[in-house]
Amino acid sequence: MTDSTYSQPVTSRTGECQLRIDGISAFYGEAQALRDVTLRLNSQEIVAILGSNGAGKSTLLRVLTGLLKHRQGRITFKGEDISGKEPDAVIKKGIASVPEGRELFGPMTVHDNLLLGAYTLDKQKRKELNDARLKMIFDLFPVLRDRLGQRADTLSGGEQQMLALGRALMANPVLLALDEPSLGLAPMMVATMMKTLKRLCKDYGLSILLVEQNAKAAIEIADYVYILERGEVRVEGAACSIMDDASLQRAYFGG
Ligand SMILES: Nc1ncnc2c1ncn2[C@@H]1O[C@H](COP(=O)(O)OP(=O)(O)O)[C@@H](O)[C@H]1O
Ligand SMILES: [Mg+2]
Repeated sequence: MTDSTYSQPVTSRTGECQLRIDGISAFYGEAQALRDVTLRLNSQEIVAILGSNGAGKSTLLRVLTGLLKHRQGRITFKGEDISGKEPDAVIKKGIASVPEGRELFGPMTVHDNLLLGAYTLDKQKRKELNDARLKMIFDLFPVLRDRLGQRADTLSGGEQQMLALGRALMANPVLLALDEPSLGLAPMMVATMMKTLKRLCKDYGLSILLVEQNAKAAIEIADYVYILERGEVRVEGAACSIMDDASLQRAYFGG
């Protein structure tokens, strides 16, 4: 952290600490993409990770989900060190993610895409949970029920994002990590998506790590915010205090 790092007191945060990311550094070859990143996420909290293109947001999610090995630091989830675990193991621990670009299986149906989200659960668990999970997903996204038999690549952008989110929920996560869910969506769809994330947190008890370039949309629903710049946390604070700060508004929210 440098002198210019702007930090708000963390006293306003409630809930039990669920995820701790401590001093993470990560590289692509010799190029450093994350520098000593430290953050935490409490249960049933929405934490937004903001920052411009290339700031390191996706890299942070890749490290969290086990897709990229970090060089330094530690990740602790529900008190357990999960640093360096493989992606399947991370999902089994209860962390599901919606990757940048959604990565759906286009020629497969909506239904099959959803079922694939449960592949990390063992057979017995899948049997127990699938129906209830599908019910929850249709409650959140009624349109997916109407589209069950349709190929994923025939859905609109907004519907595809819903499907990607639904697929992640099939793994029965307690923590959902999303990489720019608003990307490419019309403003009204962005608002709907953000409302749904809030519902997941309030009604279904999930905690959410929300990576967004759309700072305005994300901060509306976030409890706490970290702003990354060139791989470092430059600003952190309660969402309301960041929204009320005029200089931060100008620097990061275009207003
Ligand atoms: N696969 C990769 N190989 C090499 N460099 C990468 C790769 N992915 C990202 N980077 C670099 O790492 C930095 C952070 O990228 P990224 O995490 O994708 O940023 P963001 O998601 O905030 O836009 C950038 O400088 C980017 O060019
Ligand atoms: Mg990215």
